[in-house]
Amino acid sequence: MTITDQDYQLFLNAVKYSSKYDFSQYSEKSLKRRLGKVLSDNNLNITTLISRIKNSQEFVEKIVKEITVNTTELFRDPQVWQTIRYAILPKLKNNSIINIWHAGCSSGQEVYSMLILLNELEILDKTKIYATDLNSDVLESARVGEYKYRFNIGYLDNFDKVIKENPYNYEEYIDVPYEKYFQIDKVNDLIRMNSFLKEKPIFKRHDLVTENNTLYVKFDIIMCRNVIIYFNYDLQSKVFDLFHKNLYEDGCLILGLHETILGSHSVKYQKKGHGYYKN
Ligand SMILES: C[S@@+](CC[C@H](N)C(=O)[O-])C[C@H]1O[C@@H](n2cnc3c(N)ncnc32)[C@H](O)[C@@H]1O
Repeated sequence: MTITDQDYQLFLNAVKYSSKYDFSQYSEKSLKRRLGKVLSDNNLNITTLISRIKNSQEFVEKIVKEITVNTTELFRDPQVWQTIRYAILPKLKNNSIINIWHAGCSSGQEVYSMLILLNELEILDKTKIYATDLNSDVLESARVGEYKYRFNIGYLDNFDKVIKENPYNYEEYIDVPYEKYFQIDKVNDLIRMNSFLKEKPIFKRHDLVTENNTLYVKFDIIMCRNVIIYFNYDLQSKVFDLFHKNLYEDGCLILGLHETILGSHSVKYQKKGHGYYKN
């Protein structure tokens, strides 16, 4: 369904003035597309949608969950995880404590990828992992740590690439069975993360648009992958500012493969490999 500029504006205003959410600085093109999908999936027109937004917080929550994109994967973009494993995490080996924030963690696969790497590098015990998202449903899935097997067989390939192979030394092959970290239950079509991983992260609802750092610690690494791609330039700048303030000196921000820091904030970070280091 095509969304006119006027309908789009009415939707943004309805959300902004009748809820705690604000989508007015999201990227217009992708949000309009999502809004069109929400209307057709729910068989609604814009007038009815807006009136229901104004009258029910429960409905707003439902729409927010439908309008945001939650696609994620275990070891998504394995080459990025290889850099994290061989170039970014080893620098933190001598720290007494390591703090990591996954902002926009969706259903948690990114968090479990990090936990597995930390365990392989024997630095899991001294690491605190904070994982946040706008959407409380995906956070609940992250806490449960169970994923459909049928749709996610690719997780095993990604695991092998990141955990078993060393791209800097192809002769080396580290034979780690995936059962060390998760179990595959084919009868129930599930991949289940092992309990010692699930117990570790602090999952918390957090909105990057309206909230500052509500975790009240500073970070060695902030992962915010495939989130700012949905934000416009001004909102991206605001979020880069939040991250800059909350990274330790030399702390590292990791973005999605197709995301980059543009404008005035680019001089505040130095790009090395897949990481942006705070200057
Ligand atoms: C495409 S997923 C990315 C998941 C994961 N980081 C990855 O790269 O695989 C984007 C996530 O950002 C979250 N998100 C969108 N807007 C947000 C906001 N304002 N504050 C926090 N999270 C947000 C969505 O709910 C969604 O779970």
